[in-house]
Amino acid sequence: MKILVIGPGGREHALARALACDPTVTEVHCAPGNPGIAAVATLHDVDPIDGEAVAALADALGVDLVVVGPEGPLVAGVADAVTTRGIPVFGPSGAAARLEGSKAFAKEVMAAAGVPTAAARVCTTPEEAAAALDELGSPYVVKDDGLAAGKGVIVTESRDEALAHAAGCERVVIEEFLDGPEVSLFAITDGRTVYPMQPAQDFKRIGNGDQGPNTGGMGAYTPLPWAPEGLVDEVLRDVLQPTVDEMARRGTPFAGLLYAGLALTSRGTRVVEFNARFGDPETQPLLALLDAPLLPLLLGAATGTLADVAPPVWKPGAAVGVVMASAGYPASSSSGDVITGVDAAEAVPGVHVIQAGTALSASGDLVTAGGRVLAVVATGGSVAQARAAAYDGVAAISFAGAQHRTDIAAGI
Ligand code: AMP
Ligand code: GLY
Repeated sequence: MKILVIGPGGREHALARALACDPTVTEVHCAPGNPGIAAVATLHDVDPIDGEAVAALADALGVDLVVVGPEGPLVAGVADAVTTRGIPVFGPSGAAARLEGSKAFAKEVMAAAGVPTAAARVCTTPEEAAAALDELGSPYVVKDDGLAAGKGVIVTESRDEALAHAAGCERVVIEEFLDGPEVSLFAITDGRTVYPMQPAQDFKRIGNGDQGPNTGGMGAYTPLPWAPEGLVDEVLRDVLQPTVDEMARRGTPFAGLLYAGLALTSRGTRVVEFNARFGDPETQPLLALLDAPLLPLLLGAATGTLADVAPPVWKPGAAVGVVMASAGYPASSSSGDVITGVDAAEAVPGVHVIQAGTALSASGDLVTAGGRVLAVVATGGSVAQARAAAYDGVAAISFAGAQHRTDIAAGI
């Protein structure tokens, strides 16, 4: 089997690495990839958002499956361009990826499917926004309707700040505040059959103790020993299956990875957001614990035959990923800072490093090239053991201005 993975980041490195381990996989290709992915795949300099270019590359390589990683290409319809050429693709059509591409659309689908989520108002003028803020109350939650790399949402007790964020966006969704811990629950689906993965937790804010602005995610771990018994069955029944069924009913079936961001509130489980792809960085620890070949699941989802594939099973123990970000993130990022210690980190038992915003300099050094630079991922017998190993790995890596949280998976 030949596989083409589309995307530049950590999620794609984790996917390419898992696929490269599969004995039935003969070639892994990636566009555009990064230096970490180059160790397990052949890289191609193709714009991941250009559907025609991606489809032409898949055709030329004769691949059996294209895996589209990030939301940008999915929302832009890259999966559709690949499907048109008769090549199986893991990732929803552009129409189905609207579940992530428009928060207002996601709310509409959830309402139709009876999926529990925060009360919300869609606003396009400052007057509407002000009225919605007053109706739904503080803490205020204001979300840019469109894609914003995890940075389009603010949660604040300041009405002025909430209004200012709304004014900076064309269309916003203003929501009721959801209390309680957050859980990321991913499901692989072919548009009918839905296989949930093990729950994970992501740390969205830049600072320890969940302080500071939202990021794409600064670390993650799985499983969640504290999660209520029956959570996965409940979410499959009340969230994932009804959403997949509603998308099919609309004639825009969702096939790929449905990511439910959940809040376990005092009034029950609520959907915070849907994403249309593997989450980053949750995918890194999740794939480290997957105890089944990834390829049959992805291929089953891509070809409408998921029911013929065994559901995913998980290794015992736990996995933790800690993200190291470059100076300035999330407001900006720093490029060209030389990264040392990746090999030393990987010498720590149970540790591997997943690269995201990295590049090779003209002189061949590994350097920073984005906000989230890499994730140090470790497995262990428990969350605490995996966490200790991950932080030993982090301690081995350095680059100018490196930032990481020190409380990922702490106290679990
Ligand atoms: P989203 O992009 O919708 O996942 O929002 C990013 C982050 O903002 C979430 O992971 C939450 O931490 C926070 N957030 C979003 N919606 C709410 C809400 N209704 N109540 C509380 N926090 C929220
Ligand atoms: N970890 C959050 C996301 O992938 O959107």
